[in-house]
Amino acid sequence: MNIAEIAGQLTHTGYIVLDNPLPATLTAQLLTRCRHDDRFHAAHIGRGTDKQQIKSIRGDVISWLDESDSIDQAYLACMETLRAGLNEALYLGLFDYECHYAIYGAGSGYAKHSDVLNGKKNRILTTVLYLNEDWQACDGGELVVFEPEGVDVIATIAPKFGTMIIFLSEVFPHEVLISHNTRRSLTGWFRVSGS
Ligand code: OGA
Ligand code: MN
Repeated sequence: MNIAEIAGQLTHTGYIVLDNPLPATLTAQLLTRCRHDDRFHAAHIGRGTDKQQIKSIRGDVISWLDESDSIDQAYLACMETLRAGLNEALYLGLFDYECHYAIYGAGSGYAKHSDVLNGKKNRILTTVLYLNEDWQACDGGELVVFEPEGVDVIATIAPKFGTMIIFLSEVFPHEVLISHNTRRSLTGWFRVSGS
């Protein structure tokens, strides 16, 4: 990972799309960890929302990374290097990193939203790593990133194996278009320490 390049792009445009920032062997190992089993559960989106409502807003199931798993550890080590490098370059004060696998079944997506929820402002940077081999245009499932007002589209990213996007969590509303195939990813947030 070229941390100087990432820091520069985050400063200038607020986001960066990287083609293959991780070793291909690690990306392939991460994919083996992103297979549906009983670690995965429906995500929560705030209190008082019933299950059916949730599914219409957000159709993925998630599994948080396991610090005792060697593959997850290898990924977390890469992100720790990135965290330290970005702090050095940009003085962001990034304190930790939380991350989960996500699987969207065919027919699901995630409606337009912000990653900074309910006034909790400790998420600073969002990262999404895509794990889908042979992804086709007809599979849909693109991530659509909007400018801060949430009207104009500034980027549309296909969830191809090895692609990673990093963006300022508070700045960019975004949406996952309906996927027509099983869509796998690893989504995380660098955070500052909460009060
Ligand atoms: C999220 C999210 C984007 C993606 O999990 O909050 O916006 O492309 N994911 O999976
Ligand atoms: Mn999001």
